[in-house]
Amino acid sequence: LSVSETARTIEELTKVPFYFIAGSTRNRVAFISTEGGPLALWSVDPHTGNKLRLTTESVALVADPRRERDLVYFTRDAAKGAELHKIHSVDAVEGGEKLVVDVPEMRVLGLASSGNVIAFTAAGKEDVGLYLAESGSIEKKAKFASYAELTDSSEDYLVGFGDLAKNPRSSEIFIFKLGTSEYSEYTPVAGSVNKAARIRGSKILFESNLTGKNRLHICDVESTELSLPQYRSKEYEAYDAVEHPYYGWTEQGKIWAIGKKDGEAKAFVDGKTIETLPGYLWGMALLGSRVYTSHTTIIQPMRIIEVDISTGKSKTIVDNPLPPGIRSLKRRSKAIRYKSFDGRLVQAFVIDDGTDIPKRTMMYVHGGPWSDIVNSWGVYMNSLNLSGYNIIAPNYRGSTGFGEEFRKLDIGDPGGGDLEDIAYATRWAKENGLATECAIAGYSYGGYMTLLALGKKPDMWDCGLAGAPVVDWKEQHELSDAVYRHFIETLFDNKTSLYDERSPKTYAKNVKKPVCIIALQNDSRTPLKPVLTYAVELLTQGVKFELHSTTDTGHAFTKTSELMSDLLPWITFLQKMFPSNGISKT
Ligand code: 4NP
Repeated sequence: LSVSETARTIEELTKVPFYFIAGSTRNRVAFISTEGGPLALWSVDPHTGNKLRLTTESVALVADPRRERDLVYFTRDAAKGAELHKIHSVDAVEGGEKLVVDVPEMRVLGLASSGNVIAFTAAGKEDVGLYLAESGSIEKKAKFASYAELTDSSEDYLVGFGDLAKNPRSSEIFIFKLGTSEYSEYTPVAGSVNKAARIRGSKILFESNLTGKNRLHICDVESTELSLPQYRSKEYEAYDAVEHPYYGWTEQGKIWAIGKKDGEAKAFVDGKTIETLPGYLWGMALLGSRVYTSHTTIIQPMRIIEVDISTGKSKTIVDNPLPPGIRSLKRRSKAIRYKSFDGRLVQAFVIDDGTDIPKRTMMYVHGGPWSDIVNSWGVYMNSLNLSGYNIIAPNYRGSTGFGEEFRKLDIGDPGGGDLEDIAYATRWAKENGLATECAIAGYSYGGYMTLLALGKKPDMWDCGLAGAPVVDWKEQHELSDAVYRHFIETLFDNKTSLYDERSPKTYAKNVKKPVCIIALQNDSRTPLKPVLTYAVELLTQGVKFELHSTTDTGHAFTKTSELMSDLLPWITFLQKMFPSNGISKT
C-alpha cells in the first residue's frame, strides 16, 4: 500500500468512535465518545435517540452521574498531556461547562460528587491526598503513601480504595465521615484485594477476593458487619464471574453488575442476566426497567444498546457501522489458550483473515501491566490487522481478568515470566498455522515489553513498534510523581536492585531488528527523556530505528488525531521493514 492509502485506512479507523457508558442522569444516558474527534462527554435521550455533545474538549475522569440531578462532574488535563487535572461540571441537558475546582498541579485519581460535596483523590510530587472542595477552597482531609482512588460519595461519607497497607499484593477500602471528619481504613481480611466501594446509606458494595474468588460484598461502615448480597435470581452466581469491571446499587437498593470472564462480559440486575450478544460491555446505566450498555467485539466497534429487563428485548440506541471498505474485508477472531514455559495456560486473542494460510503476524502486547485484552474493539490491533497482518494478543501473566493469583504473578518479576509468556505465544503462532514470521508491538508497558523483547531475544521478532515505552526503571522512578513512584515499587515488590536488570536500556546493545518508537513530549508516566538516551544507544549500535516524538501530547490519548499521529509512523515503518502479505476481501 502507498503511504496515502495507508493513511486513508488508518484515518477511517481512528474516526470509528468509541462509546463508554458513564451512567444515567435524569432521563438521559451519559457517555464518553470520540465521535467527531475529542474524547468528550455526551448524553443521549434514549426515547428519541437525540445525542448531545456536552464538552467541546476532551475529558479524563467522569464522576458517577447522579440520577437525581443534571450536573455531571469530570476532570480534564490542563497541562497539554502532562495529566495535571482541573475539575469541571456540565449540565447533561443544557451543556455549558464550568470550571468548578481549580486543582493546583496534581494528577486526579478519583472524583465523586453528590449533594454539595465535590471530593477527589490526587497525586502530587510528594504524596496522594484526599481533598474536599467547598465554596472555592480545597482542603486536604487525608494523606496516603500510595495509590488511592475515591470511588463514591454521599451526604455522609466519602469512600474509595487503594494500596493503604503498603502491601504490594493487597488493597484496602477507606471511609471518610463528612460530619466528623473521621478517616478510617477497612479490610475484611488482611492481605485481601478490595476495590471500588459504592455507598448507599451506611452500606458499601465492593469487590473483594477475601474468599479466594473476586466477589461482590456488602459492609456496613458503622458496624463493619460483612455480608454477601442476596440476589433474586441465581443466574449471576451460576455465571461465576472472575471480575466485576462495573457495579452499583439500583434506586431500589438492589445490585447491578457487569461480570467478566475469559475476556467476555455479561450484565446482571439483582442476579438476573441481561441478554446481550457475546462480546464485551463498557459501562452500564439504568433508567427504570431499562439497561443501557455499550456492546462490542474485537472486530465490531462499540454501539450503545438498550435492553428491557422484563422482556429481554433489545434495540440499538447509538449505532456504529464500520466504513464499507473495512466491512467488506474478511476477518475472524477467536480466543485461544496455550501452554507457557512453566505449564501454565495463558489466553490470547487471535485475529486472522479466515483463510487458515499462515502469514506475517503481529504480536500485540497490551499495557498496564494490570490490564488485559478483552473481546472489544481497539484501534491499534485493528489498524495493524487491516494493514495486512494476523494478530496474536496474549493475556500474559500479570494481566487482569483471570483472577488475583494470576494478576500478581508479575509482582517482583516484571519483564520475567510475562516476557516468557510473550515468547511462548509467538512460538504458538508459528507452530499453529497463524504466523510465518512475527513482529512485536505495544504501548506503555507493551512498549516496554517490546523493547525488552528485542534486546533479550534479538532473533525472535523481525521488527518492533514501541509506543510510550519504559526504557529505564531507575530514571523513570526518579522522574515520577508519588503515585507512579509507588506503582514501580509495587510492581518490583520493592526489589529496587532489579531495576537495571529489567530495563530495556541494559539490552539496547543486543538489538538487531528495526524498531520504531513513538514517545510523547509531555508524557508524565513514561517520560521522553530516558527514551532519547535509549535512541542514542540504538544509533551507536547501528540499529535501523525511527523515533517520533509529538508535541503537546501525553500518555493518555485525548483525541482521534493523536491516534493518527501514533499509528501512521508505526504502520508506514512496519510496511517498509516487514511488508505484509496483503488483505483478503470477502
Ligand atoms: P501503562 O504502563 O499502564 O501501560 O500505561 C505504565 C505506566 C506507567 C509506568 C510504567 C508502565 N511507570 O513506570 O510509571
